[in-house]
Amino acid sequence: ESYDMGGHDTYMHKEIAEQADAVDRVLRGRIDDRFATVRLGGLNLDPREARTMRRVKILGCGSAYHAGQIGAQLIEELARIPADAEPASEFRYRNAVVEPDTLYIAVSQSGETYDTLAAVQELKRKGARVLGVVNVVGSAIARETDGGVYVHAGPEVCVVSTKCFTNTAVAFALLALHLGRIRDLSVADGKRIIDGLRKLPGQIEEILADEPRIAKIAEEFANAKSMMFVGRVRGFPVAKEASLKLKEVSYIHAEAYPASELKHGPLALIEPAVPTVAIVPDDDLLEKNRATLEEIKARSGRILAVAHQEQEKADDTIVVPRNEVELDPVLMGIPLQLLAYHTALVLGRDIDKPRNLAKSVTVE
Ligand code: AGP
Repeated sequence: ESYDMGGHDTYMHKEIAEQADAVDRVLRGRIDDRFATVRLGGLNLDPREARTMRRVKILGCGSAYHAGQIGAQLIEELARIPADAEPASEFRYRNAVVEPDTLYIAVSQSGETYDTLAAVQELKRKGARVLGVVNVVGSAIARETDGGVYVHAGPEVCVVSTKCFTNTAVAFALLALHLGRIRDLSVADGKRIIDGLRKLPGQIEEILADEPRIAKIAEEFANAKSMMFVGRVRGFPVAKEASLKLKEVSYIHAEAYPASELKHGPLALIEPAVPTVAIVPDDDLLEKNRATLEEIKARSGRILAVAHQEQEKADDTIVVPRNEVELDPVLMGIPLQLLAYHTALVLGRDIDKPRNLAKSVTVE
């Protein structure tokens, strides 16, 4: 596939730069201010079913799985339905119990990933209700599912997913808001989330304007032998996605851990040649995250924080704009896409086509 790079050196850079427009697209025509909710035309989910479902299970691979983890947290927070995400590639092989009052959601950029498609087919065979959160219109997963939400990120050419990841997280925020307003989410909270969603495109532009500084930080990180990415709760899927991004495009080994788990083992890896990227939002876990930064500093580990304010214990902080806490994961990953891109650029990697990888994995 090829289309105009619009003056960018790679599709990855172009697709990172397009994110404000892409988020604008996923929101367009869907917000219903009158009822403080969203309209999702293709969802095909009866409100009675939305009220009575007992569980949501989200399935996807790689970045789609990470976006699904953000989605599960949003659904739990806004709709108060127990929700979790699992790699579709694991789910399909473990003869999972398929429950009648569980809503299954398959997530995919391409809509053609074989593991995710096979999980959908197995679920359908067992009579489950399966929705899709998919980017490519009319793709196999879009066709096999009972309905869903299109992500509207536009074509994504770089093997490494960026704008589609962000748009998928926003699509889940829309779905969570929709389910929440059918269940217990108040009008005031609905409005609060809608206001937050509307701020996203402008805030993404603000984050992208920090690129020159992120490029400088990347020059140092290009020498790392390995990197740690840590976050708590909402920050953890962000850390996982950022770690995957860096691995895919720079070939630097990276690990992602819940910050709370560091002391249970991975702290042994911290030393000057292993920098840490910490996701530190101003939420109710801020003090806990600061304590983690101290633990890392005490082991001479270099720290880059992604935060809402400068972090004293960090060597560098990328400050991102504040939004509603539930939407923090949408914004906090974006500077780390740029970090992965610039690290790969310093190392001279084949950014749009990393070795050993394909854009969509359509075989077993
Ligand atoms: C993302 O950067 C990856 N290249 C990869 O993990 C990808 O997200 C995964 O293969 C799933 O693809 P899909 O979204 O097209 O299903």
